[in-house]
Amino acid sequence: MSELARDAYIDGRWEPGSRRFVVRDPYDDALIAEVTDSDDAVVDAAIDAAARAFRTWRTRPGAERGKLLGQLATCMLADERRLGELCVRENGKALKEAIAEVRYAASFFTWFAGEAERAYGEVIPASNPGQRLVVTREPVGPCALITPWNFPYAMLTRKIGAALAAGCTVVAKPAELTPLGALAIAELAHAVGIPPGVINVVPSAHAKQVGARLLASPAIRKLSFTGSTAVGRQLLEAAAHDIKRVSLELGGNAPFVVLGDADVSAAVAGAVVAKFRNGGQSCVAANRFIVEASVQDAFIAGLLPAVARLVLGRGSDPGVDLGPLVDDASVAKVKRLVDDAIAKGARVLHGTSPTRASGPGARLVAPVVLADITPAMALWREEIFGPVIAIRTAADEADALAQANDTEYGLVAYVFTRDGARQTRFIEGLETGMVGVNDGLVSTAQAPFGGIKHSGLGREGSRHGLDDYTQLKYAAIRVS
Ligand code: SIN
Repeated sequence: MSELARDAYIDGRWEPGSRRFVVRDPYDDALIAEVTDSDDAVVDAAIDAAARAFRTWRTRPGAERGKLLGQLATCMLADERRLGELCVRENGKALKEAIAEVRYAASFFTWFAGEAERAYGEVIPASNPGQRLVVTREPVGPCALITPWNFPYAMLTRKIGAALAAGCTVVAKPAELTPLGALAIAELAHAVGIPPGVINVVPSAHAKQVGARLLASPAIRKLSFTGSTAVGRQLLEAAAHDIKRVSLELGGNAPFVVLGDADVSAAVAGAVVAKFRNGGQSCVAANRFIVEASVQDAFIAGLLPAVARLVLGRGSDPGVDLGPLVDDASVAKVKRLVDDAIAKGARVLHGTSPTRASGPGARLVAPVVLADITPAMALWREEIFGPVIAIRTAADEADALAQANDTEYGLVAYVFTRDGARQTRFIEGLETGMVGVNDGLVSTAQAPFGGIKHSGLGREGSRHGLDDYTQLKYAAIRVS
């Protein structure tokens, strides 16, 4: 990554700002970069640039906008190794996962490159023969995008892709822990000729202030946020004043249900993906394993060797599956949840509660498997965001469904069963926006990603992803 890419990116230029913050490697705390800590002046300049660029970007044909997005995807893929290594350094994840993330992230640009040409309107048959009723879709305007550290590329490209395809411009505020991925994307966007002001990036260690500044500006017409439910709620309140459009991709507490007739080896393979992708640091990570009593022994017998095979280590080392957790607070949270569960009677089938270590590798957390989970344990209600499998027994199908829905969250659920009727009953009965049926990974650019209940508002990816960045305009045209 070039020296330039450590500054904020505004109006096609690198802006050093007046203060900096440091980014460190979560494996050993090595200093990676000193980055612009965007203050109000920097954020205001970014908003102005996005507002100016919107006037012309919105008028460019969708095909032209799509072409640039397609070029951006090509550049990302051509540079996947370098981008992957950068992601390992700032986020800690295993290199193979980082490269998979670059591909996943680029797929949003590819997808929305196509969707840019398909922002269809409609003509409504009028009951009055003298009228024509025409509906068009217009871009909502400059957007504020606030993204998390767990997928520094993909969570941003999912938003930028849809926004730019729709004709919106953006001011992006990446997570304090991982701003470098967003700046690398800005660098590539610059190189492919995305016009100045269309993408602006304002890194900051003062997330609250930047969020407040963005939402206070009448020029910003939409917020898209991925992160915790608590922060999402505050941003939603702040956006209400100005009646801004809001998309929220918030916390999850995903149930992973294994019914008695499941293909156990498929369930084990699905569990490893659904739990250990990104070390469990994902809002779609399986949080609560609900296993029908009749299959529990077989599931555990398959699961334990699969968990034991996972290699923990520095993300850049060959063969590593799980890198460090991103920061001390994440390690402390996992420890608190595991200790609480054990104190309340959970049986440890694999691993131990994380120890408080120091020095390089201190944030490596080995997988833990717990059984005899009850709703009294904190991890039944809270997102673990770490490599812990927590198993609760279900008496039967109805009990499994009731347990799965016993949460205020509603992002994703996984269910393993060979029975088609049971699959349908779960798809219809689960209170979530997404369901993986015999599948531990639902995320893909072609599908609508998003949740219900406390998991959020709106959908990202798919043709529906464009809706969140467009508004309908209806014209009644008198023809006689
Ligand atoms: C997330 O963890 O926020 C989303 C991950 C994904 O897109 O699969």
